[in-house]
Amino acid sequence: MLLKDKHIIVTGGTSGIGEACVRHFLGQGARVCMASNQKDSGEELEQELQKTFEDSVFFQYCDVADEGSVRDLCQAAEERLGRVDATHCNAGVWGKGKVTDFTTADWEKLMGVNVKGAFWLAKHAVPLMEQNETGGVFLVTTSVAAQTGFPEHALYCASKAALEALVRCLAVDHAGKVRAVAVSPGTIDTPMLAASCQGWDKPVAELYAEVEKRIPVRRLGQPDDIAKAAAFLLSNNAAYVNGTTLVLDGGTMALPPW
Ligand SMILES: NC(=O)c1ccc[n+]([C@@H]2O[C@H](COP(=O)([O-])OP(=O)(O)OC[C@H]3O[C@@H](n4cnc5c(N)ncnc54)[C@H](O)[C@@H]3O)[C@@H](O)[C@H]2O)c1
Repeated sequence: MLLKDKHIIVTGGTSGIGEACVRHFLGQGARVCMASNQKDSGEELEQELQKTFEDSVFFQYCDVADEGSVRDLCQAAEERLGRVDATHCNAGVWGKGKVTDFTTADWEKLMGVNVKGAFWLAKHAVPLMEQNETGGVFLVTTSVAAQTGFPEHALYCASKAALEALVRCLAVDHAGKVRAVAVSPGTIDTPMLAASCQGWDKPVAELYAEVEKRIPVRRLGQPDDIAKAAAFLLSNNAAYVNGTTLVLDGGTMALPPW
């Protein structure tokens, strides 16, 4: 029960990594407000989880790119949970393309969700956590894309690098009250990964098999691999971890470049 009585907001909590985090945090004794822009699957997941966890979990619709929607999310979480101890800023979108391909709409979508969304969430959740006697934790899902130049991923890579900078700034500005940390996943088996494989000349299963051979641990990451690390970072066991990013990539970033 690593997260017993921790009250946690998880954005992007209705799919992939975020959904695994919601399930794992609940299993570790947390109360969770799961948020996303997936209204139907959010309501379905709420119904399913409430059968076991009752009022310890609820779904809140939120578009993280919209400040009003993020403000509503934080207010709803505070009202229904009583207080907010931790915030997992996990919602994200992926986009392919070189710098020369991007339109203003692409910029608004990717930076709007991945970067502006994180700023809005920090702006409205950090003050809630600062008012707690025991403070809080702001956890961000970045990506190994923050540290590597993935071909034709200019905006996505830049958006994730911005998040790692934000984590360092939050850690310094709110030290003593709120810890700021990040998880940086490698290649994780989620709907986003499957979407990123569309349009290639091979079926997804074949692409995954090829990628697995190149990951030192010889498998894709599973959403639960991230959830377990995220739970540690949100727990009191990680009390001295602040302003840093934990890479969860099966060793990919440790590979030599040949
Ligand atoms: N899957 C990977 O290999 C991988 C690797 C590194 C980082 N990540 C990051 O992990 C996070 C979760 O991704 P995933 O792989 O689970 O993908 P996913 O597509 O399964 O989940 C993304 C979630 O974000 C939510 N979301 C998207 N736009 C939103 C918006 N405007 N407002 C609110 N919610 C919104 C979606 O509704 C969904 O719940 C993302 O930040 C992603 O960039 C994923």
